[in-house]
Order: sequence, then C-alpha cells, then structure tokens
Amino acid sequence: MAATRNSTFDDPFYQPADEFFPANNKIGLTFDDITLATLYSEILPRDTQLDTQLAENLHLHIPVISADMDTVTESRMAIAMALNGGLGLIHYNMPERQQLSEVSRVKNHVHGLIQEPIKVSPEQFIADVLALIEQKKFGFSTFPVVDGKGKLVGLLSGHVVKPRYAGKKVSEALTPRTQVHTIKKKELGRDPIARADKFFTEHIGIHKLLVVDDDDHLHGLITMSDVERITQERKAQFKPARDAHFHLICGAALSTTRNAFGELDRERILNHVGALVERGVNVVAVSTAHGHSKGVGDTVKVLRDAFPKLPIIAGNVTSAAGVEYLADCGANAIKVGQGPGSICTTRIVAGVGIPQMTALYVCSRAAAKKKVTILADGGITKSGDIVKALTLSQAVICGGIFAGCNEAPGEVVEISGKLYKQYRGMGSLAAMRAGSAARYGHEKNPAQKVAPEGVEALKEACGSVDRVLAQLIGGIQSGMGYLGSANLEQFLQKARYIRVSPAGQREAAPHDVVELKTGN
Ligand code: XMP
Repeated sequence: MAATRNSTFDDPFYQPADEFFPANNKIGLTFDDITLATLYSEILPRDTQLDTQLAENLHLHIPVISADMDTVTESRMAIAMALNGGLGLIHYNMPERQQLSEVSRVKNHVHGLIQEPIKVSPEQFIADVLALIEQKKFGFSTFPVVDGKGKLVGLLSGHVVKPRYAGKKVSEALTPRTQVHTIKKKELGRDPIARADKFFTEHIGIHKLLVVDDDDHLHGLITMSDVERITQERKAQFKPARDAHFHLICGAALSTTRNAFGELDRERILNHVGALVERGVNVVAVSTAHGHSKGVGDTVKVLRDAFPKLPIIAGNVTSAAGVEYLADCGANAIKVGQGPGSICTTRIVAGVGIPQMTALYVCSRAAAKKKVTILADGGITKSGDIVKALTLSQAVICGGIFAGCNEAPGEVVEISGKLYKQYRGMGSLAAMRAGSAARYGHEKNPAQKVAPEGVEALKEACGSVDRVLAQLIGGIQSGMGYLGSANLEQFLQKARYIRVSPAGQREAAPHDVVELKTGN
C-alpha cells in the first residue's frame, strides 16, 4: 500500500507547533524564518473551505480583515471586504458621528447600487468635468446631472465628455430628464439586482439606470456592467459576509477615550457603542498598541457588561498573559502583533514587540484554553505569510496589502509616471494629530517629546480589493492543498514547521533569473 501517512524519518525535522516553537524558545521567529512541510493530500485547492468563526455571532467566509487605519478602512473598503466574505474595521480617526455614518453606509449597502454616484451640475462646463475625471482618475465618464436641491435634471453621457466640447455647458450637452431611464427606489424590491437585470434585458442598448424618490431626487445609479459582474459573482465560491438581516457585516474600532481628568470616559464610550449597535455594527474592536493594560481591560469590561452579545475584538498583545487578561475582561477575539506592521516603528522606537510567528504561537495556546480566537495583525506582505499565520490563528488583519487599493481612502498620486496612495501608521505624527494618539497612550496634540511609532509612506496603487483578495485567497487555498486540509480547523492541527537558513530564504524567492513578469 502506498505510504500516505507521515514517515518517522520526517519527525525529527518537520515538527508540529507544540514541539517546534518550544524547541525554538530562545529566539523570536517571524514568517520568513520558517517554512511549512507538505503532507499527503487528497484535497484540491479549489475545494478548500475558508470559513472562520471569530465569536458566537461573528462568522466570516474568508479569514481576512482590513485594518482599522485611516488610510485603509472606511465604508468603501469595508463594503468590498464584506462582499468578498471578509470584514472591514472602520477606523476611529474621525468624529464619532462620521464613524456612525460610515457604518450605516456599509449596513445599507445594496450590492450593485452606487448610492452616492458622482454628479455634475448643469452650470458646469464639459472642461470642468474633464478636469474632474483627470484629477480623481475616474475610470468612467457618464454622470447624472442634478440641480442644487439634488433633483435629477438629466444624464451627461460619456459620448459628449470630450475635449472637442470643452467650451459647452453641461446643460447644453446633457440627455434631458424626459429621456433618462429611472426607477423609483421603492420599486427596487428585495432583489434590486434581479430587478435591474430584467430592466436592462427589456431596454436594449441602455446601460445605466438611475434610482429616484417620489420627488425625483437622485438616490443612486445601477450600471449594467455591475449587474453582470454580480450575477457572475453569485455563482462564486466565497459568498459575501452578511448578518441575519442580509446586510453586509461591518466592524468599528474604538479607542479608550478619556475625560478631562484622564479617567476612562465610560459614558461617552457606551453612548457611542450604543449608537453603533443601533446602526447594526457586528463587532467593535478596542484597538490600541498595548492591549495588556488597564485602560483596554476596563473598556472591554464596560462594553461586555452593557452589550452581553456584542462580539468584541481587543488588543494588541504578544503574550499569553495579555490574551488571558483580555479574555477574562470579556473579549472574544484578540489581536496579536506589536511592531510587525509595514509602517510600524514600535520596535525601533520603544524597543518592544515580538516577531510574529512566536507571538502567535504563545498567544494561540492561551487563546485555546480561554476559548477565544486570535487575529494575526500586521507584517503580512504575501499570501504565504497568511498561510503561515493561519496555522496558529483564526484570521489575519492586513493594512499595507490593501492600502494601495481603489477602495482605500485617499487620492491616487502620480510620481515619475507611477501611481501611488498614501499609507501611514496610526502612530505616525500626522495620524496621531488626526486623532489616533490615544491608541499609543498619548494626548491628541502631542508635545514635542512624544516619539511617533509609525511612518508616513506610499503604496503603489494596485487596483481593486477583489483583485488583491483573489490572489491572496488563491495562495491560502494552495497552502491548504499542500497540507491536505479541507478547512481551517484541519489546517491548524496539521501544520509542521522547520526553520529556514538565510540561504534557504534566498532560495525561496525567484533567483538567478532575469524576471520579466511577477507572479501577480
Ligand atoms: P501591515 O503590515 O499590514 O500592518 O501594514 C498593519 C498593522 O500595523 C499596526 N499599526 C501600527 N503599528 N505603529 C505601529 O507600531 C503604527 O503607527 C501603526 N499603525 C498601525 C496595526 O496593528 C495594523 O493593523
């Protein structure tokens, strides 16, 4: 019979987590320090399941979360993440009221309906519209035209948005209201995509459908290309992550807000979380650089008492004691990572933090005992890192990987012919001034002597979240196939590790070739 089980020859070299990490307990290891050994497999990558349960009421179809950072996750990113089966955590570097509206946008998102389409006014010139397209790098050129009160006046078709008509006014060039196809918002029904699909089939050559209310105010835009994409996606393996009311799931980050006396502002925290819960938030994340601290523990306790069923994420920690503390305070999922992030300087500035794989191992053992989950937060630069992280955690949190996506906040900037987006640490001076100082235990307007723990940087623009996630998911599924794991639970149990030498690291990347195309 063919050998499908482990051979005893392998055992001294490729060790399971509980042998490998204690045997390497004198050194902090991160993703590139180790590699995973393959196992006999009957599992094809495409058949693997990536579902993960982070708390009783928090289930994701893919184990990927976008970071609560002001250059990564606002509503657009959170919508894209949830549509792909993951989760976005809306950052807190904004007024509380704005965070509530960001959450509402995700919860009210109707897939395929662009709720706030870019509009133009009849008074503008085609030249203004061309400049807007250039400045914002829009990939489309058809715009609804509305008056000062938001009432629909017509549609400016891409056919007339041309330099040749630059001197003409929008009012001269638009397709008039009477010829524009619209549907009343209330007529969209429970399945707006099916409704729009039917409309486009019945109206040959029409590619845009505008949504209005009874007073003809514009409420959205549905395009045929989106409808076609969504109809395709419905057959996809990974379904959007939705709550029991069929709304996309959404998370919001919180800081440990303090009052003028430096005490935890319990009332303000409770009021804000109460409002978030009213808007349908599915999870809150108490996000700080040092989660094994009284402020974070007390915040979690206050929230757990007030909202017994609300899933709570808390962090960050890198020790078993930190996990146990936050679990005892009432957290369900605990963020692990201090200083691994691509924009982090905590290890340089403060001299603290633990390389990520060692931190994940230590924390995972405490988490299993406390029946909580852990999230590997930071330092992930490629799908292989996610694969390794998922051998010890229930999901990963990524910032840098998504910061260059269209859905991340901020404008695209062009430098020497290349397109970039800004990406900054929440502990960078600019982000702390914008509000995140509490995350690092500082005042909002830090005095000179406060040392930032993050940098401001750029990421190359990298297209849509759908595209980036497709690559990452493909990598995770490959990893699971190599380890013969049909789902993430099996993966946790089966992983075997070995250290990699510097020469082994070089061998792992393309070498001794002139690379013409990257793997992506
Ligand atoms: P990646 O590697 O995905 O990391 O870009 C994102 C994670 O980094 C953390 N973070 C910071 N850590 N200083 C730090 O030491 C900072 O300024 C900072 N900003 C974010 C955070 O955990 C995030 O999810």
